[in-house]
Amino acid sequence: MEFSIKPGSPEKQRSGCVVVSVFEGGQLSEAAQILNKASNSALGNIIARGDMTGRNATTLLLHNLPNIPGERVLLVGLGKQNELSARQYLESIGAAMRVLFSTGAKDAVLYLADHPPVGRDGAWCISQAVLAAFHATYRFDQLKSKAEKNKPASCHIRFGIITGKPNNRQLQALANATAIGHGMKLTKDLGNLPGNICTPSHLAKQAQALSKTHKTLKVSVLEEKDMQKLGMGSLLSVTQGSDEPPKLIVLEYRGADKKQKPVALVGKGITFDTGGISLKPGAEMDEMKYDMCGAASVLGTLQAIAEIGLKMNVVGIIPSCENMPSGSATKPGDIVTSMSGQTIEILNTDAEGRLILCDALTYAAKFEPATVIDIATLTGACVIALGHVASGLYSNQDTLAQELLAAGEQTCDRAWHMPLWEDYQPQLDSNFADMQNIGGRAGGSITAACFLARFTRSYRWAHLDIAGTAWKSGKEKGATGRPVPLLVQFLVNYAHKSHSPE
Ligand code: BES
Ligand code: MN
Ligand code: ZN
Repeated sequence: MEFSIKPGSPEKQRSGCVVVSVFEGGQLSEAAQILNKASNSALGNIIARGDMTGRNATTLLLHNLPNIPGERVLLVGLGKQNELSARQYLESIGAAMRVLFSTGAKDAVLYLADHPPVGRDGAWCISQAVLAAFHATYRFDQLKSKAEKNKPASCHIRFGIITGKPNNRQLQALANATAIGHGMKLTKDLGNLPGNICTPSHLAKQAQALSKTHKTLKVSVLEEKDMQKLGMGSLLSVTQGSDEPPKLIVLEYRGADKKQKPVALVGKGITFDTGGISLKPGAEMDEMKYDMCGAASVLGTLQAIAEIGLKMNVVGIIPSCENMPSGSATKPGDIVTSMSGQTIEILNTDAEGRLILCDALTYAAKFEPATVIDIATLTGACVIALGHVASGLYSNQDTLAQELLAAGEQTCDRAWHMPLWEDYQPQLDSNFADMQNIGGRAGGSITAACFLARFTRSYRWAHLDIAGTAWKSGKEKGATGRPVPLLVQFLVNYAHKSHSPE
């Protein structure tokens, strides 16, 4: 798929499809009015007959409009004009993309950025349309023996602007969204791959492949013996029941001077979570192949910023292993010593994410990071609290939380700020070690974050619990690519801020 911005009026486009919007009540957008005039009121007549109401997310595909050189014209209903919300807009362009890619159009000109929703601008519309195009065309078919029929054909998408030239904001939005789209595809593909293929070694290979494509990315992989030397007793306690070798993958992106402190992204990379000896129930256990979506989002984000060429330094750290039951697996009650020196009583081997993250977070300090963000499918409790809409956000610094929330709002990949108060910490007290790895049923997502907070006191840190947002269950089962948009936008904003003179 290719994207560009194209100045020019809609009635002149010799294109496979010209896409214009209509509002509820039948009012035509500016581009639709131009087409209507050029086609002797063809659009107005169709609307008068009641074939297009302009209702939100409705579409009408037309062929051979009089005096219009475009092969097709696609009308998209945006809903009520004076209260157009971002959500309404996203639903509408989602519907438009589905129809567009069901046609044989090889290229299309979209006039969908001229009526932005409240509080958004044309550049935002372009970003979201690019992501909607990626979403509509995504297929995970690499493991099917026969190719799907009616697979969307590749299409050159142009964003039409009726008058004037594209501005820098629009061009930047297009480039950034394309990179985010590519990053999300990598994140989805890795998430959807099953546990027998997407092993820790596979993730390490993917990281190495990324560094081959992008000279700005350097990769190193720590093996089990390296982790032993570093004293990562907590991480190693999770992998010890598995036959797959664990990996600690480190990706260093250099986009600025060496002296600039990096932002570190730490992603949970459990390639399959059976629960270990605290075995999970069988129903839907297959979904625990998604327990490496934090890791996949770190890889997708680093690929995106390398593609953008962001002027800052970022380190990706991915602790990766399987959580399996076996004769050598960790038992409930076992006590281990983490790299930080703190001891942990493992009361439930299914609370393994925090056990691998705590050592990775201690290791992160070695890079003297300005900020550390971990991303993890950490708790079922977070899904109960926030559903599948928002990721859970925790931070030991309020401005960092605000920056992440804002990036989520900007990209419609939202997070919700959760409390990290000391009041919850006693739930982790242990009779036999410095702490235990579970805090009881109450506030399960919060106590998991509180556990991590005990390892991140020396730097500015945030934690994203993506258990509810990283994949979809049921009929549409599949990875979502979240929170790559949030993370990339956060880093883009971060790079701009540290370069501005203020
Ligand atoms: N990977 C799971 C979290 C999870 C569960 C994500 C369901 C998405 C859907 C994590 O390792 C886990 O098992 N957490 C336990 C923690 C509990 C034992 C304290 C959980 O949430 O049940
Ligand atoms: Mn688990
Ligand atoms: Zn897990």
